[in-house]
Amino acid sequence: MNTEIVCVVGARPNFMKIAPIMAAFAKHGVKAKLVHTGQHYDPAMSDSFFEQLGIPRPDVNLEVGSASHAVQTADIMRAFEPVLDAECPRAVLVVGDVNSTIACALVAAKKGVKVIHVEAGLRSYDRAMPEEINRVLTDQISDLLFTTERAALTNLEREGVAAERVQFAGNVMIDTLRAHLARAVPAAVTLGGLPARGYAVVTLHRPSNVDHEATFRALLETLNHVAETLDVVFPIHPRTQATAERFGMAELLARPGMILLPPQGYLEMLGLTREASVVLTDSGGLQEETTALGVPCITLRENTERPITISEGTNTLTGPHPDKILQCLADILDNGGKRGRIPEYWDGQAADRIAITLRTWLDTL
Ligand code: UD1
Repeated sequence: MNTEIVCVVGARPNFMKIAPIMAAFAKHGVKAKLVHTGQHYDPAMSDSFFEQLGIPRPDVNLEVGSASHAVQTADIMRAFEPVLDAECPRAVLVVGDVNSTIACALVAAKKGVKVIHVEAGLRSYDRAMPEEINRVLTDQISDLLFTTERAALTNLEREGVAAERVQFAGNVMIDTLRAHLARAVPAAVTLGGLPARGYAVVTLHRPSNVDHEATFRALLETLNHVAETLDVVFPIHPRTQATAERFGMAELLARPGMILLPPQGYLEMLGLTREASVVLTDSGGLQEETTALGVPCITLRENTERPITISEGTNTLTGPHPDKILQCLADILDNGGKRGRIPEYWDGQAADRIAITLRTWLDTL
């Protein structure tokens, strides 16, 4: 088969985005191959998503693994270039904002291969976030940009990206959520029974929260306070676990009411989130998933690149500040939190819209 598009995934949040895109490409006759950079490699961070979401096995795995940002990005670029030389695709499609996204987009752009970015135009306007650098640069070198919310087009216009290169397609991650909701693993199964007083789901892995000892300690102490009211279900990211041990904070994770879990599969996480009283997180994806599910979300960051989750959804920003977090939690427990509504085009059809556009676009190249 002559490959038309090489699709790239690397890290956990990429997998739920590529799943509906690969399915829609098969349905609409777009000839695609899948490259996994190997940025995430533990079975719980990678393989389980392929199995649960029915993503085709990657045609190529670059097996780059973990390293500093510079080394990881460079390793992906070196390994990806020969794949493009062998496949000669007409375009490379990247999703999201991880190091694999910018690395492969940059290789393609320098070789004169068209770049397609799905989830373009999101901006936190916080350049201290590695993902913000990846987003800004990827969008600058992309030929076709698909957005998840209307504010993204305004961000792109401000950066000089021509409007005719941008299409508001909707949210592919929500395609996956809607497609798999009925198969979500009940929380009682994952937890071996439901906590009688309800529970909060917590995820934490941003460098700004876990790499600074004082911030990280204050956050864990705040979670210990939360655990006085609700069980705290905490599927812990490997870097967060490692940092807690390095800072000598493992004891704060073992306090009463803290339920520590290894990284969860997609269907387990979806079940846990759907049934939670509240989610506390610094993840981008969970801000959107809680909005789609109507579950209150407290985002432990000062900013978000997904403002629609605040203006229309169930999300509230507190930063890592204990007083704000506990006040927000009290409001949610008192009155149920923001009601929210489902944003436009978060309707399960985003990948179809992308595939239909690409089928025509490829035919005109
Ligand atoms: C990456 C993304 C981030 C995304 C997150 C989701 C970048 C810059 N960051 O951050 O945007 O929200 O993925 O998880 O791309 N590790 C393992 N097993 C794995 C993968 C990682 O143990 O399968 C550990 C390693 O110690 C590694 C650390 O986690 O050094 C960080 O992994 P890395 O991919 O560099 O960044 P994340 O923090 O996962």
